[in-house]
Amino acid sequence: MRTLPPITDPNVLVGSNTADDAAVYQFGEMALIQTIDYFTPVVDDAYDFGRIAAANALSDVYAMGGRPIMALNIVGFPAKTLGMDVLAEILRGGSSVAEEAGIPIVGGHTIDDKEPKYGLAVTGVVEPGGVMTNATALPGDHLILTKPLGVGIITTGIKGQAVSDETIARVVHLMTNLNKEAADAMQQVGANACTDVTGFGLLGHLHEMCEASGVGARLRLSSVPVMAEAWELVADRIVPGGTRANLSFLENSVDFEDGISEDQQLVLADAQTSGGLLIAVAPQKADALVEALKEAGTLAAADIGEIVADARRKIAVVT
Ligand code: CO
Ligand code: CO
Ligand code: CO
Repeated sequence: MRTLPPITDPNVLVGSNTADDAAVYQFGEMALIQTIDYFTPVVDDAYDFGRIAAANALSDVYAMGGRPIMALNIVGFPAKTLGMDVLAEILRGGSSVAEEAGIPIVGGHTIDDKEPKYGLAVTGVVEPGGVMTNATALPGDHLILTKPLGVGIITTGIKGQAVSDETIARVVHLMTNLNKEAADAMQQVGANACTDVTGFGLLGHLHEMCEASGVGARLRLSSVPVMAEAWELVADRIVPGGTRANLSFLENSVDFEDGISEDQQLVLADAQTSGGLLIAVAPQKADALVEALKEAGTLAAADIGEIVADARRKIAVVT
């Protein structure tokens, strides 16, 4: 993205310059949100894969404080080697999640591809004043996380057949869970900044928030919710390459307190698919947000640390 020409159109409220979740374009009284996300299967079941990819793509609209209105399918599929019934199941999964989000899938595009790929291009709307970005976190804000970590490690375990059916069901439930309720709670209480936690992991997306907002952060490891199975797998050295890459990329941006093991560092950097929202909220509203999230039934509602003033924009992780 850094090689793209700079954006000069004044209607572009959020573009590629702050590594935010989606683009926002002012259009009269309203602003349009545009985002696209697609990937290769993370689980074996075609229907579940479709649901996960759709929930993941919709998440960026929720992270921006917006409401999705419609979406397009984007599909790569090896029609010669996989039956068309598999593709039908993927699309059926995507449609079921779109229906849950209350939006139509209005079309799409399919190309022949060696490996299946699926996702959505999502259009959303937001009032220009309601746009939530990752660039407006303030020192003192509490950091709230709405889903547990460990998805990347567990889905890698699935590929290595090291994971029980119960655990697969739990991680599928996590990944297909829409961030809609979390976003509603955030809007209701009022927050300062937000992003969703996906491929760069909790630490990577927090790092982006710190860079964009010009602040640092302090994270309490003991407060971070993690799926229990992830600890067992990481102890058995089952870690995705992307998670290791995230951690080494952050080498100069994160200070770990003595006693925080490499396993714990890897979990905090674990690449998530369709992870939760990471919300920066004013300290006096933090308890209200946690309560609103619990009431909404989000998979986690954890106060995991705070934003601090730091010109170096570093993340300090304490036990
Ligand atoms: Co995102
Ligand atoms: Co995204
Ligand atoms: Co955002």
